[in-house]
Amino acid sequence: MVFDLDRYINEFDRGLRVLEGEPQAARPSPAEVLPEEALERDLRRHAAALMRVNHCGEVCAQALYQGQRLGSRNEDLKSALSTAAAEESDHLAWSAQRVRELGGRLSLFAPIWYAGSLALGYAAGRLGNRWNLGFLAETERQVEEHLQGHLERLGTQDAKTRAVIETMKQEEAGHRRAAESLGARELPAPVKLGMRCAAKLMTTVSYWA
Ligand SMILES: [Fe+2]
Ligand SMILES: [Fe+2]
Repeated sequence: MVFDLDRYINEFDRGLRVLEGEPQAARPSPAEVLPEEALERDLRRHAAALMRVNHCGEVCAQALYQGQRLGSRNEDLKSALSTAAAEESDHLAWSAQRVRELGGRLSLFAPIWYAGSLALGYAAGRLGNRWNLGFLAETERQVEEHLQGHLERLGTQDAKTRAVIETMKQEEAGHRRAAESLGARELPAPVKLGMRCAAKLMTTVSYWA
């Protein structure tokens, strides 16, 4: 019980740091080595909005991983996913940094998406390893598609933003493969559709606020 309480306190503390909006990355942002381009105002605003969406997605990723850690009792599974969780922390910091560099601000609704994702992650964690992994693999698959869409919407401009998105997309693919190799189950089609609808709501709202 003491162990459980510690776990909950640690995750609560982590949640507060996620929502503070000033996370620290363990690795430098992929954008750091590239020069800042002179972007037109509309493009800069568009890129900032896309990165606000991505930051919100990374807040959700933190909450999902946290929920799954709290919901699952399998230590092997949790340690196997720790690399992915560490990379997600960098994504969170890089996307927040890029939003600020572009003159944007983070989403006002991040705490709401965070709470919803935490509950979903916890529920998935309680369903057992293979469903838990299946939920993770499907989430990562949908995030990969979504990031590809952002690259297409940005076109050839703003190399710094594209570098962040490209690296995140590659790493999300790695997280999906890790979940698949650990025995992820294919989720039923209605569940996948429900996840797409929830993601669409989050991405549409966070583009604007
Ligand atoms: Fe991520
Ligand atoms: Fe991921």
